[in-house]
Amino acid sequence: MPLKIVVGCQRGDEGKGKIVDRELESGEYTWNVRFQGGRNAGHTVQVDDQQIILHLIPSGVHHESVQLGLGPGVIFDPPGFFEEVDELKAHGIEVEGRLWVSPAAKLVMPWDKVLDPAIDQVRAEAQGKTIQAGGGVGTTNRGIGPAYANAVARDGLTVAHLLNEDILRQRLGNVVPVINRILNAFGCPETSVQEVLNAYSSLGVRLRKFVKPLSKGLAQSLSKGQWILAEGGQGRYLSVDCAVSYPNCTSSITTSNAVFSGLGLPLRKEWIGPIVGVVKAYQTAVGNHPMPTLIGGNREEKLRGRGKEFGATTGRPRHCCWINALELTEAVWANGCTEINITKADVLDEEPQIPVAMELELNKQPIHGLPLTSEEYFRCTPVYSCVHEGWQSSIQGIRKIRNLPKNAQAYLKALEQIAGVPISGVSIGPKRDQFCVP
Ligand code: IMP
Repeated sequence: MPLKIVVGCQRGDEGKGKIVDRELESGEYTWNVRFQGGRNAGHTVQVDDQQIILHLIPSGVHHESVQLGLGPGVIFDPPGFFEEVDELKAHGIEVEGRLWVSPAAKLVMPWDKVLDPAIDQVRAEAQGKTIQAGGGVGTTNRGIGPAYANAVARDGLTVAHLLNEDILRQRLGNVVPVINRILNAFGCPETSVQEVLNAYSSLGVRLRKFVKPLSKGLAQSLSKGQWILAEGGQGRYLSVDCAVSYPNCTSSITTSNAVFSGLGLPLRKEWIGPIVGVVKAYQTAVGNHPMPTLIGGNREEKLRGRGKEFGATTGRPRHCCWINALELTEAVWANGCTEINITKADVLDEEPQIPVAMELELNKQPIHGLPLTSEEYFRCTPVYSCVHEGWQSSIQGIRKIRNLPKNAQAYLKALEQIAGVPISGVSIGPKRDQFCVP
């Protein structure tokens, strides 16, 4: 089982951090790596009473024997990276010496963080709405979209450019004139080579200790049969290649098929291990997304409170939804999941009934599968043809799926049938040991 993959099947915030943390507890893994996304992610890891929210660094920080890696597919934010390194140090966790940053990862530049809200504002205005009222994408404002866009437009910088001040100056000399045109177009102040050098040169010096040939290191480990845990950021419906979500998504491919390119590895079938899809027992989204199964009203408010559903990166309240069977089936397929883990099942403890949308309607007509565009998806309504009876008792103390209340087991069985792959674990609380196995 050389390369095991953990990916989100919804819109991020499925609780992947805890699944990764638990998986690494087996002591079998040499590496825990990220292959896409950047500081837009928010992975909450809780050990004893200590809660740490990671945005860029992989979730396995507590496991001292595990090497950590950020692959070439990650969008790397230098000041944000050191903020996290320092915060971890303050919690007694040292990552220097075991965290490898790929020299090929592209950088988030200061201008990307300026352009991110400026561009989203123009999108929202074009829709005649504010961002708060659902206009634009409602990004995390971490510069992710502009950084990936500039990178593929070939106006980006890589981690390697940061390592040598002469190369950095040369690269900035070529890029800054292009970026200034873009900044001008959006009414943002221009930048200069010197301004960026002032902000990034010293970070480049500090970064040298972390930059190592990650892809080669991973390939060597795989050849020796050592195990790697690849951890996805966001989830299937935030993937830039997901038609039904586009453009209400992030700017990277979030599914398992991005793992090999995002780690800079050749595709070798003997390296592909199990693919674990992480599915919250209900669904959430933060930002502006088509969500036909939005709960709404007081019931949503209560669930949000019980599940502490506020963005780990931005603090925004997350929209809470019932499970949409069409989304779950498609997400498991798109990720090639071989198993799923259900998370936050305990948050449903007090629900008297749990609806699941089995079909969708568009213009009051049933549609088969998900629509092809997010424009249509925004107009879809759910058909709750399955309503499960709640279990209305606390399940946080249970450790075996077979010991869960009958109604909880029936709900999980239904999710398993929709997914078409087995449930290999159910998280029933924030603590590491609050987990049920079959
Ligand atoms: P961006 O990734 O900052 O460009 O944001 C694009 C969309 O993805 C917005 O709706 C964000 O709220 C959402 N998003 C990005 N990362 C995450 C995440 O880790 N969890 C939940 N939503 C996210």
